[in-house]
Amino acid sequence: MPAEIIDGKRIAQDMQQELRPQIEALTARGVTPGLAVVLVGDNPASQVYVRMKGRACEEAGIYSEQINLPADTREHELLGVIDRLNTDPKIHGMLVQLPLPEQINEMRVLHRVNPSKDVDGFHPENVGKAAMGDPTAFRPATPYGVQQMLVRSGVETSGAHAVIVGRSNIVGRPMASLLTQKGEGGNATVTVCHSRTRNIGEVTRLGDILIVAMGKPEFIRGDMVREGAVVIDVGVNRVDDKRAKQGYRLVGDVAFDEVAQVASAITPVPGGVGPMTITMLLYNTVQAARQWAA
Ligand code: GUN
Repeated sequence: MPAEIIDGKRIAQDMQQELRPQIEALTARGVTPGLAVVLVGDNPASQVYVRMKGRACEEAGIYSEQINLPADTREHELLGVIDRLNTDPKIHGMLVQLPLPEQINEMRVLHRVNPSKDVDGFHPENVGKAAMGDPTAFRPATPYGVQQMLVRSGVETSGAHAVIVGRSNIVGRPMASLLTQKGEGGNATVTVCHSRTRNIGEVTRLGDILIVAMGKPEFIRGDMVREGAVVIDVGVNRVDDKRAKQGYRLVGDVAFDEVAQVASAITPVPGGVGPMTITMLLYNTVQAARQWAA
């Protein structure tokens, strides 16, 4: 039987509805939640993501600023922009879109963001707090969104074997941390695979839940998935397609049609994890504004 489709767009809309009263209550007190998004250079995918984040803020009633810097921006110039945003009272949350051009040291940039405005959850203070299960930590939007998606789709994580493919600081590693914690959406047994994992298909086949974030188009085939598994595809890859209007189409890291024949539930690309990532960013921004106003 083909898999049930987990509709990230619908879950994201539900969560944004739930955020509305919080945003209205803050605004009524004179605190409009504010998000700043800094984009360095002209990476086309980053441009799309940043535009989508701005649009989502507008629809939700969150003030947003987009700061575009040229690709040859020097590191100290970017750090100067972060310093300004760190003290700007209109801005409760900020993020610097990754990846950054190679002349800029990503670590120094992530360290510079005020942890109380770090709605991406990439500052070491938030990474550490989140790893320790501190509820005041900002959690990275993508893994946090995946966890919410599992909970809201009724997928039992407790006692399940979750296999994660990809070990990035943005998705794979924080995902493992969230799923192993005690509480709702946690208590899983977690395996993290990556590019050096031997016989990766044998490992992915062990997953009751398979979460794929490796950035390789349609890498996960039907025979790499356990019958009845829940498959979450975090990948967004552009592949050339002459028939498509823009000359490319988007595919995930999972070969959707094949895997949908094996899995019990699967997320589509687009319309799966993407909308959840944006929603969790809005969520974190609202929480940042609430903490600021408290
Ligand atoms: N690049 C890819 N994903 C992300 C994200 O969640 N935040 C930022 N800042 N950059 C990204």
